[in-house]
Amino acid sequence: MTSLQTTTPTAAVNPPEPELGQPYVRNENACHDLSIRVRDLSLWYGETQALKSLDIDIFQKNVTALIGPSGCGKSTFLRCLNRMNDLIPGVTIRGLVEMDGRDVNAVKMDEVALRRRVGMVFQKPNPFPKSIYENVAYAPRMHDLVSRKADQDELVEKALRDAGLWEEVKDKLQQPGTSLSGGQQQRLCIARAIAVQPDVILMDEPTSALDPISTATIEDLMDKLKQQFTIITVTHNMQQAARVADYTAFFHLGEIIEYNDTQMMFSSPATKKAEDYITGRYG
Ligand SMILES: Nc1ncnc2c1ncn2[C@@H]1O[C@H](COP(=O)(O)OP(=O)(O)OP(=O)(O)O)[C@@H](O)[C@H]1O
Ligand SMILES: [Mg+2]
Repeated sequence: MTSLQTTTPTAAVNPPEPELGQPYVRNENACHDLSIRVRDLSLWYGETQALKSLDIDIFQKNVTALIGPSGCGKSTFLRCLNRMNDLIPGVTIRGLVEMDGRDVNAVKMDEVALRRRVGMVFQKPNPFPKSIYENVAYAPRMHDLVSRKADQDELVEKALRDAGLWEEVKDKLQQPGTSLSGGQQQRLCIARAIAVQPDVILMDEPTSALDPISTATIEDLMDKLKQQFTIITVTHNMQQAARVADYTAFFHLGEIIEYNDTQMMFSSPATKKAEDYITGRYG
């Protein structure tokens, strides 16, 4: 019986999944399509290992929060998803990162195309030193998504509307992006990221430099944007994770200790480490 099973064509084409050892928790109730599949992902900066054999499935059109103490590898992991670590000298990466079934690290993967599909928003708003309009129009033009001026205008308006910024800037599109407030600049960066119609948006502590009202605006925005995009966000704010995230992954010392539906994670964490972190006893 066993030998028959292992020699079936299916087994040959689809090798068995690697063992997912405890305390990784696979979400039993997940009914969403897979966006990103990570298996046995490790990363070293020189000799120092920063990510240790990570396994995680990220679901489409959901918000996934990455939480955990400073230095546990959250930003490093995010950068693995759009190959931004390739830009750092001395980095070694092993393991699989698959997006929509394609290996992100494959030699033939076009990095420019990948970064179009995976947008990024950083902790500190970083508009280009250009007009509000150009901040949004530049990337779609570079990627040949628009050529006619009227199409470009339409795309800029749509991205700014989707980012909840249009009403505030529609009369001053030619002013510098840097002339906006911090919260507006962050929404401009979100408009810039979504203008190229990515599949995934990575956000690394997108509200940590913002006031509470701007933070609430961005949180509402994430809730709307997940209808169109898969969002992965890093946060040190547990209330924010509980409010915005469908799924939460708890990182600790380069490992994913626990990954689950956010409500489950926050109401009954499966590990003591996650419980201590969530309840503020450590971290
Ligand atoms: N460019 C780099 N070169 C060398 N080591 C790095 C580099 N970037 C990060 N590290 C190290 O990798 C580990 C993980 O860092 P990372 O920035 O991913 O953590 P983090 O969870 O995002 O932390 P924080 O919450 O403070 O942002 C840390 O020990 C850090 O010092
Ligand atoms: Mg970080």
